[in-house]
Amino acid sequence: MSTPIITCLLIVSLTLFSPAVGASNSLNDSMTVYEALQLYDFPVGLLPEGVTSYELNTTTGEFTVYLNKTCSFTIEGYNLKYKTKITGTISKDKITDLKGIQVKVLFFWLNIVEVTRDGDELEFSVGIVSADFPMDNFVESPQCGCGLDCANGNGFDGEKEKAMEFSFKRLVFSSLNQM
Ligand SMILES: *[C@@H]1O[C@H](CO)[C@@H](O)[C@H](O)[C@H]1NC(C)=O
Ligand SMILES: *[C@@H]1O[C@H](CO)[C@@H](O)[C@H](O)[C@H]1NC(C)=O
Ligand SMILES: *[C@@H]1O[C@H](CO)[C@@H](O)[C@H](O)[C@H]1NC(C)=O
Repeated sequence: MSTPIITCLLIVSLTLFSPAVGASNSLNDSMTVYEALQLYDFPVGLLPEGVTSYELNTTTGEFTVYLNKTCSFTIEGYNLKYKTKITGTISKDKITDLKGIQVKVLFFWLNIVEVTRDGDELEFSVGIVSADFPMDNFVESPQCGCGLDCANGNGFDGEKEKAMEFSFKRLVFSSLNQM
């Protein structure tokens, strides 16, 4: 029953991300942070809109991203909070030492310390627990306040809603299992 949905998500992800993977893989100074993310194989939706500047040491992968204001929003049951300064170390498919992004798990705000891309899933690790989310949830950058649901209901279809609900249940499940 869920196979068509999964297949659909897979195709959407592949379609959206293959251009970035195929593009010339060299960073340059005029690139936005969202373009830089894609060169490391990550979707732009990992960061909300409103990034004012960023620094990236291409040798070590150490980066700092500045947002114009503290940003928080809810996406289908999970709350995310972005501080105005986010730091970490990025390499292809992996971000470590992350500071500045928090997710509410059950009743606690936890720091997301690591993000790993594994095929079409993104794994968020908060240390003791981690959760996988389909890439489809990150194809566009959320906006502060309203997240991905800012337009008047347009572009938010039932299938996507179901997929996110499913992710949230899995997150709660894996948290309970590991606590
Ligand atoms: C830098 O990258 C951007 C985005 O990919 C591209 O549009 C621009 O032409 C590049 N500039 C140089 C000097 O390579
Ligand atoms: C921050 O950036 C967002 C997106 O570009 C913009 O809509 C908003 O007005 C900005 N806020 C401030 C305080 O500059
Ligand atoms: C990148 O980091 C290395 C090691 O810390 C340092 O030697 C180098 O100067 C840095 N490069 C830039 C452009 O900051």
